[in-house]
Amino acid sequence: MARVLVTRPLTEGGTDPLVEAGHEIVVPGDPPAADELAALAPQFDGIVCHLTDRMDATVLQSGRAGRLRVVANAAVGYDNIDVATATGLDVTVCNTPGVLDDTTADLAFLLILAATRLASDAERDLREGRWTGWGFGTHLARDVHGATLGLVGFGRIGQAVAQRAAGFDMDVIHTTRHDTGLSGWVQTLAELLQRSDIVSIHVPLTDSTRHLIGAAELAVMKPTAVLVNTARGPVVDEDALVDALEAGNLFAAGLDVYDGEPAVNPRLLAAPRATLLPHIGSATIATRTRMARLACQGVADVLAGRTPPNVVLPAPKP
Ligand code: GLV
Repeated sequence: MARVLVTRPLTEGGTDPLVEAGHEIVVPGDPPAADELAALAPQFDGIVCHLTDRMDATVLQSGRAGRLRVVANAAVGYDNIDVATATGLDVTVCNTPGVLDDTTADLAFLLILAATRLASDAERDLREGRWTGWGFGTHLARDVHGATLGLVGFGRIGQAVAQRAAGFDMDVIHTTRHDTGLSGWVQTLAELLQRSDIVSIHVPLTDSTRHLIGAAELAVMKPTAVLVNTARGPVVDEDALVDALEAGNLFAAGLDVYDGEPAVNPRLLAAPRATLLPHIGSATIATRTRMARLACQGVADVLAGRTPPNVVLPAPKP
């Protein structure tokens, strides 16, 4: 019987694959801090962790010096894990691809709608007693239907957003490093930003996507455009985004993710025309349960000597 650390409680039934395999599961009362994680890691054969757990070289080396063989992130993004170090140490890394695409795309579309229609500002006016009645010229926003939607990244989630956009009669374009061969592909980020009325980000956080959208990129967007980010906070330079919103060089923004979350840049909190959600992209009961099971199944597979389908490998060297 192996021992598996689950750093935070999962949804009901989430640990079934580990239970069925007969493994001992340990869920600490409080999620372990970084130094506690390094101390705990060697005592476990597997760890099911979250995007909030920093699985860095210290934790992984400490784990490998003990019995650690597999780390599964209950998330599709895995920028919190030093995959190169893990792989070098022969610790398998897994994530949860494929089971949260539609739920995250729904949330991206919610932000596309909410930000473009200035829903947060309008709701705030109502809740805070500033609504004095129906007004012909108040809360005027922009249309989602018929707009050009630019997708930065066109993986599973980006494609699921594109499907939804078709129902809103949007023109959808996308940019990726390599030609997708699909209609709507544009070669450069700059062209996509220039042409789009709404830009939605769907790339992972890597060294090459950190601050992919900064002051220069925001400057080529239309002043009437809307930026939505449901991927990872550091893909956008938040100060540059606030500058653009404050100066009226960007119409609105919808964010679910933040650089340094759960702290949120106070300038963003005060920024005009910003809809801000607390990283809930995949947060439905069904999807979180699928994610938990997939992560736990990955750990169970490795501990049984099988290679799971959801293994993450280090990015190839440029
Ligand atoms: C959520 O952000 C995830 O990466 O699954």
